[in-house]
Amino acid sequence: MTSWTRKDLVSLRELSSAEIYLILDTARAFKEVLNRPIKKVPSLRGKTVVNLFVEPSTRTRISFELAAKRLSADVVSMESESSSFKKGETLKDTALNLQAMNVDYIILRHSAAGAAQFLSERLKASIINAGDGAHEHPTQGLLDLFTIRERKGNIQGLKVIICGDILFSRVARSNIWALTKSGAEVTLVGPKTLVPEDFRGLGVKIEYDLDKVLPAADVVMLLRIQHERQRQVMFPSVGEYISLFGLTKNRFQKCKSDVLIMHPGPINRGVEVDSELADGLNSVILEQVTNGIAIRMAVLYLLGGGKGPQELVS
Ligand code: CP
Repeated sequence: MTSWTRKDLVSLRELSSAEIYLILDTARAFKEVLNRPIKKVPSLRGKTVVNLFVEPSTRTRISFELAAKRLSADVVSMESESSSFKKGETLKDTALNLQAMNVDYIILRHSAAGAAQFLSERLKASIINAGDGAHEHPTQGLLDLFTIRERKGNIQGLKVIICGDILFSRVARSNIWALTKSGAEVTLVGPKTLVPEDFRGLGVKIEYDLDKVLPAADVVMLLRIQHERQRQVMFPSVGEYISLFGLTKNRFQKCKSDVLIMHPGPINRGVEVDSELADGLNSVILEQVTNGIAIRMAVLYLLGGGKGPQELVS
């Protein structure tokens, strides 16, 4: 049985497959807890968790907060707009002040790649990366892997398309690590400007024709165009993007009947995915959100010294 020895969770690149599956198996036990009438366990009683979000978030921020509360931790959420960041205080000084208040965890979302690593090297508290620029979003990669495993039973050999803005996507990078370490065959699809050839070095395939690869796919993961991170227009028009890379109803006809449609959110309905498909029977988009709480409980619990799912079975 793998044991957990890390202080921080910064990236999936650095995790072994055994560590990833320890998180997934622990999350499965927590998902069972979340279905009980009393959805709370005492694992983190007396611990303090700070949600430090310097970029907007709905799903990640709220699910980390719920996860920490379900584990009986004290939780404080801090947003940059109402903090001394507005007065020019640096990330390092902010974090050192939180450390001076003896917090146990800092969950950080930041626009700069490497921000979570920077804090992890300087603070005693556990640092959890909740998305750093275009680098990684490890708990998103984990909840996506959990969702696929729950629906398909096994990841090994599955054909997974990740379609859209790969270049600027931390979700794509974390999913590439999670899926390839688990034996999936990953194909990246999108405009050439957003899917650079050098991603092949990560052990994935690249294809610029979505229609060619769609019929064999077991999972289609659609990514949002990250206008906030693009410094120039990367494709001619939204209409052209939809005609080539949108999962439209017409295109969906080519898919396997049991294909999973995934999206990390927020969705641009009618752009990366047709609105009815996003709400349809093949979509697991809201299951991803539900599973995010169990995954984040597992991460908090393991970083706090939890041994694994065997401790949670009662
Ligand atoms: N998937 C995701 O990271 O969503 P939020 O930006 O709302 O947290």
